[in-house]
Amino acid sequence: MASGAELAGKRIVLVVTGGIAAYKSAELTRLLIKQGAEVQVVMTEGAKAFITPMTFQALSGKPVRDSLLDPAAEMGMGHIELARWGDVILVAPATADAIAKVTAGLADDLFSTIVLARRCPLIIAPAMNQAMWANPVTQANVTRLQQLDPSILVWGPDEGDQACGDVGPGRMVEPLVLCESLVAHFCVDKPLSGKRVVVTAGPTRERIDPVRYISNDSSGKMGYSLAKAFSDVGAEVVLVSGPVAIPVPQGVKVSQVESAEEMRLSSLQALEEGCDIFVATAAVADYRPATAADQKVKKSADSMTIELVRNPDILSEIAGLKNPPYCVGFAAETQDVVAYAQQKLARKKLKMVIANDVSRSDIGFNSDHNAVTLITNENVETLPRLSKPALADVLVKHIIAGYQKAL
Ligand code: C5P
Repeated sequence: MASGAELAGKRIVLVVTGGIAAYKSAELTRLLIKQGAEVQVVMTEGAKAFITPMTFQALSGKPVRDSLLDPAAEMGMGHIELARWGDVILVAPATADAIAKVTAGLADDLFSTIVLARRCPLIIAPAMNQAMWANPVTQANVTRLQQLDPSILVWGPDEGDQACGDVGPGRMVEPLVLCESLVAHFCVDKPLSGKRVVVTAGPTRERIDPVRYISNDSSGKMGYSLAKAFSDVGAEVVLVSGPVAIPVPQGVKVSQVESAEEMRLSSLQALEEGCDIFVATAAVADYRPATAADQKVKKSADSMTIELVRNPDILSEIAGLKNPPYCVGFAAETQDVVAYAQQKLARKKLKMVIANDVSRSDIGFNSDHNAVTLITNENVETLPRLSKPALADVLVKHIIAGYQKAL
């Protein structure tokens, strides 16, 4: 590994839990420090049976944190602050018990509390006896954990000789490899690392009765591609999605909704948890039936009228908040695309509008391709026709540039 300061400026919370591999975390601390990282070690009670806090203090240059209820330590940095201090929380070694605790969402000690309160990525390096690792309960915990939060990374375990004499999978990944993986984790170009992005996507369904609704033709492909592209550049992404038939990208959190009102509430909820950039790709129904019937409406008369009422404009509401995130909207138009998009930019108080001509059948709704014009207060730029994933990468670069300029 390069001997430079590849992790300079990175803050790593290293959680050491109680397994024999805890001794290897001393070497890991040394390697991380050598790469320029700031390391705050957190130890569980079990870990202290294997290695002393003094070892980690000497290597990291910081007193070890080991208690949720230590008034002196809490005075320096409270546990919630500690959870937010790190660019990453690395649990190494992570025992079967530690994994079970994280999966269950317990918060009865410092380690489990900071894991639950974190906003940064969580990496788990399992280390345990091979039978404990193979146990269906542990396997189910690991699967469940990643289903609950696909952004959690599980590195390892390695296979080989174990301290107890067994052979098999369960060894902690070697410190040098963990350190290299962390360098790779940070060194890919991740300009939105530590930032939160909320993307709305897909159509909404506005109920007429339990079996009928008003909706539109959105496939969700553009929003899902954008969510993935934001995640690829390090952002924590929440996708607030109407009903679509495409898979959720790895590492993206999804909130499934149906109606515009549900999308509004989920978006506002996601915003409350922190949001730096809000991108509204959803094709929100402009109107909904004034009332939704509880039972299936029977046909009787030759004609029927459904009274429609306006839906809330989610994007306008969010862009109009006191401290809004950087707001980007989409504009699907069939004529005078740029002029309408410019009006939308001003009316909805947006930073950027991505406009496309939905009268063209080779792009836009339900197509795998799109060709858009980017409109900001300063600029109008037409991008070439691209596949939606490729376009999403280009759009994310433009959005990042605009966001950074606006900071
Ligand atoms: O006003 P118009 O529907 O053309 O605006 C489109 C943009 O506004 C899109 O970004 C869309 O996701 C967002 N929008 C919204 N809530 C609505 C209607 C549109 O967030 N009710």
